[in-house]
Amino acid sequence: MATKDNVRISPAQGKLGVLIPGIGAVSTTFIAGVEAVKRGIAAPVGSLTQLATVRLGKRTEGRTPLIKDLVPLASLNDLEFAGWDIYEDTAYEAARKAAVLEPALIEQVREPLEKIHPMEAVFDREYVRRIHGPNVKEARTKMEKAEMLMDDVRQFQKRTGVARTVMIWCGSTEVFHKPSQVHETIKKFERGLQKNDPEIAPSQIYAYAALKLGIPYANGAPNLSVDAPALVELARENEVPVCGKDFKTGQTFIKTLLAPGLKARMLGMSGWFSTNILGNRDGEVLDDPGSFKSKETTKLSVLDQILQPKLYPQLYGDLFHSVRINYYPPRGDAKEGWDNIDIFGWLGYPMQIKINFLCRDSILAAPLVLDLVLFLDLAHRAGMRGIQEWLSFYFKAPMHAPEVYPEHDIFIQLMKLKNTLRWMRGEDLITHLGLEYYD
Ligand SMILES: NC(=O)c1ccc[n+]([C@@H]2O[C@H](COP(=O)([O-])OP(=O)(O)OC[C@H]3O[C@@H](n4cnc5c(N)ncnc54)[C@H](O)[C@@H]3O)[C@@H](O)[C@H]2O)c1
Repeated sequence: MATKDNVRISPAQGKLGVLIPGIGAVSTTFIAGVEAVKRGIAAPVGSLTQLATVRLGKRTEGRTPLIKDLVPLASLNDLEFAGWDIYEDTAYEAARKAAVLEPALIEQVREPLEKIHPMEAVFDREYVRRIHGPNVKEARTKMEKAEMLMDDVRQFQKRTGVARTVMIWCGSTEVFHKPSQVHETIKKFERGLQKNDPEIAPSQIYAYAALKLGIPYANGAPNLSVDAPALVELARENEVPVCGKDFKTGQTFIKTLLAPGLKARMLGMSGWFSTNILGNRDGEVLDDPGSFKSKETTKLSVLDQILQPKLYPQLYGDLFHSVRINYYPPRGDAKEGWDNIDIFGWLGYPMQIKINFLCRDSILAAPLVLDLVLFLDLAHRAGMRGIQEWLSFYFKAPMHAPEVYPEHDIFIQLMKLKNTLRWMRGEDLITHLGLEYYD
């Protein structure tokens, strides 16, 4: 350890277990991708942990190491995957069905994918209504289900001999629920598990199981999951880092690129209409109004937070923001999004921007899963616990301390992420002031 480090980071020795509820499009694209990268078949495009550098010190110093050389991250060769799903398909079959990756590529990594047999899921049709499958745990109470999940984890750890484990929710979007009384404290939550409180979602049972075992947890979907006071309390108590929610990909990613730019120039905005078509299983689940409401809520929150209409009522006070998702099977995972943005400039003169993004949802999400897994493991080894706001960069609705608003501007998020890495290593934080070059 370098002496100037602000935190003691234990080395990334041994294997890192990656546990994933939801063996679907995103998770299989992630796992197949890691296996392809390991074999030198393809490049980890989109992943900061694999490709990005950090500037250290002054611009004149020329120090820009790769992130993975600045902080000790687990190596791709040390990742060991397992997961749960309501379907019995192996990760190989699930990847074939998701049809994100070309069959020829999937065949090249068939062997490791075929070894991943989803464990029985904790599932509740009240929370995900459009799908049902046979691979589901039966138990009397939600607490018993949590204990069964913990047994799964222990068996996985024993079988594989992993040194550390992280969990990342890549399961379907659950129907919209606000935090309720049962989510207030660990005590109430545990009583709720025993009494089968209907407000406890399956994803929260996974989160609880992970945190009880001291395993970091990330939530890639918009439903609450670990974003509840009781679970954050448990994370802090057990010294476990957590983060969420809803991977920032596709249309919202573009939104958080553009909106800060327009606001930076004090250009006004009267409307932003976003619509898209999506034909994968995620799209099918989101066709249910309850699940869509979860997604809509995270997607809508972004603009309000970036534009700050209370501070700038004349520019953003009357903004009409609408988001639609249409389930359209022929497109599969190849989503197409359209945005119409009505802006206004000098003297209120109107202008329009149109965006037509033909994106690939899971291709955009997979590198985020990789980075989150590696960074959460790093945070854990660095003794960081509770909400990891520095990982906001990856989320549409970043978890945050109750007294602050979430930061949605992707460039501020990136600065926060890189400054956190600099801080870990005891390097100067970069303020971009730079007056010293002109003294
Ligand atoms: N692809 C993206 O760009 C993106 C972006 C943001 C968020 N997300 C979210 O990530 C999640 C995964 O997306 P996807 O495209 O892989 O969806 P998917 O439908 O292909 O995969 C989700 C899998 O989760 C399984 N599942 C549902 N409930 C479960 C439970 N309780 N336990 C275990 N498994 C369960 C389903 O059977 C399915 O196989 C979704 O919630 C989606 O909204 C995706």
